[in-house]
Amino acid sequence: MGHPTNERSSVTPYHRHEPGSQPPSRYDAYRSNLRRAPSQPLIFLPHTLSEVTGPIYGHGEVGETDNDLTRQHAGEPLGERIIVTGRVLDSNGRPVPQTLIELWQTNSAGRYVHVRDQHAAPLDPNFTGTGRTLTDENGVYRFVTIKPGPYPWLNHYNAWRPAHIHFSIFGRAFISRLVTQMYFPGDPLFAFDPMFQSIPDEKARQRMVSRFDLETTQPLWATGYKFDIVLRGPEATPFET
Ligand SMILES: [Fe+2]
Repeated sequence: MGHPTNERSSVTPYHRHEPGSQPPSRYDAYRSNLRRAPSQPLIFLPHTLSEVTGPIYGHGEVGETDNDLTRQHAGEPLGERIIVTGRVLDSNGRPVPQTLIELWQTNSAGRYVHVRDQHAAPLDPNFTGTGRTLTDENGVYRFVTIKPGPYPWLNHYNAWRPAHIHFSIFGRAFISRLVTQMYFPGDPLFAFDPMFQSIPDEKARQRMVSRFDLETTQPLWATGYKFDIVLRGPEATPFET
């Protein structure tokens, strides 16, 4: 099926999101989102040439240990070593090569290296919790890291975030930028997390949950998780900050 073209520039616009597949911009149970949710109706922007083709990021070289969060310090971090890998795909299921992926996460105790995170869990001197990499020619990325822990937050009484890794994917164009969170299968905190629950469509929610993969798992070394990321279209990974 062809896509409608934009009359002004004859460029092919990106798919719009399916209803229910993305969190609403305002979701009352997620308290801090009330301070940043738009109070006016959104303005519909056409996908013209500038939205569809740019900008091109001139990011610097990705360093050798940027995709291995267990090798960024003198010693090894504590916790469960994991491999996280998958493909970045566009709205037509085609791999997106050479795209920059950044991630950030807590350590195994559920603590971020951040001045605002003062909860009663230890920092790990051997773990910063940030990484980046480029996808290869098949759209494949791979990180080695430590499984993050759940952490408390002040959204409501006894609120805990399910363990998650934040991802930012630049994609090919400004409107294909995706910021999302990757979760781990079977987390008992899903049912109580307003960020996860703010996405109405259950199938869309599941697109943020990685799956355990025995083939990615390496004997005597690390368990493996697969997480494919779809930037736009009906199968898009929900946007979640
Ligand atoms: Fe987080």
